[in-house]
Amino acid sequence: MMGLVNEVIEKTTTLGLVDFLPVLRWVDFRSKRKAMDMYRKIKLTWGSIIQERRSSKGSDHESRSDSQDFLDIVLADSSFSEDQIGNALMELLIGATDSTTITTVWLMVELIRNQEILSRVREEIAQTVTGDKPSESLLSQCHYFQACIKETLRLHVPAPLLVPHRATETCKVNNYVIPKDSMILVNAWGIARDPDYWNDATVFKPDRFLDAKIGFRGTHFEYLPFGTGLRMCPGSTVAFKNIQMLVGSLLHYFDWSLPGGEALTAIDMNEKYVTTLKKEEPLLLIPKLRYKN
Ligand code: HEM
Repeated sequence: MMGLVNEVIEKTTTLGLVDFLPVLRWVDFRSKRKAMDMYRKIKLTWGSIIQERRSSKGSDHESRSDSQDFLDIVLADSSFSEDQIGNALMELLIGATDSTTITTVWLMVELIRNQEILSRVREEIAQTVTGDKPSESLLSQCHYFQACIKETLRLHVPAPLLVPHRATETCKVNNYVIPKDSMILVNAWGIARDPDYWNDATVFKPDRFLDAKIGFRGTHFEYLPFGTGLRMCPGSTVAFKNIQMLVGSLLHYFDWSLPGGEALTAIDMNEKYVTTLKKEEPLLLIPKLRYKN
């Protein structure tokens, strides 16, 4: 499934010549073939999962309401076609997986490179958790840790150009005329590093989010990791909480080092852009258990 998610992202969202010269659209059979190919693969993958779930109707799984998942709920509504369900699930997976993983990796990288900040986060978590296990509600009281997640989303915007939008009407923005149907790409990455809005724009400084009450819900236009408006990310809250829980636990329970005892500052910071902006080389770290509870 992850292979398919990556393939769909790569093949359907990377920009091609035709996106800059729309006149070529009429002869662009390659993009159409790619889209049809992806459509077939999605249909094939989800088709069998949906069939399997349908045929398990009346089984133990079906009768236990606590084991119902998203797929059970949409299948219970007969107005959705198999294609609609498959495409919706695919969109959810595409939106949810890569972006969350990318942020988790960059957050770990930034904290491990900045040991002072890491110690402050750990101390805050330890003082809040006080012998208990890190939980969603306890970690939500760790404001400095939350500031670190926000700063990671600023410095490493996972979807630097958000998702392509389309102008539904011809309109004028400042003195530029945007014709109807133009593709609009918002450079959220550039905005998040603009020195007009951010001091030391390229430096990892979580403190900036402690004083300024800048949230990630698209109401502050200088900070748009989840987009803004009607099409902004519907998963922002769950993403933030998942990252908080995952990284909070990783930091609380483990010490981390680089293979071969390399200096922590030696982590390679190269990025790779394929619609999302991920770390080029996978992050390899060695965990060492700190607590046994
Ligand atoms: C750090 C994690 C995440 C980031 C940075 C992120 C970012 C984004 C961005 C930038 C968009 C496009 C917004 C726009 O065009 O203005 C988007 C759309 C979307 N995201 Fe997320 N996302 C994340 C996690 C998630 C999660 C966990 C889910 C699901 C549980 C999710 C589901 C979606 C969906 C379904 C859309 C499409 C919405 C639409 O087209 O109306 N995302 N996300």
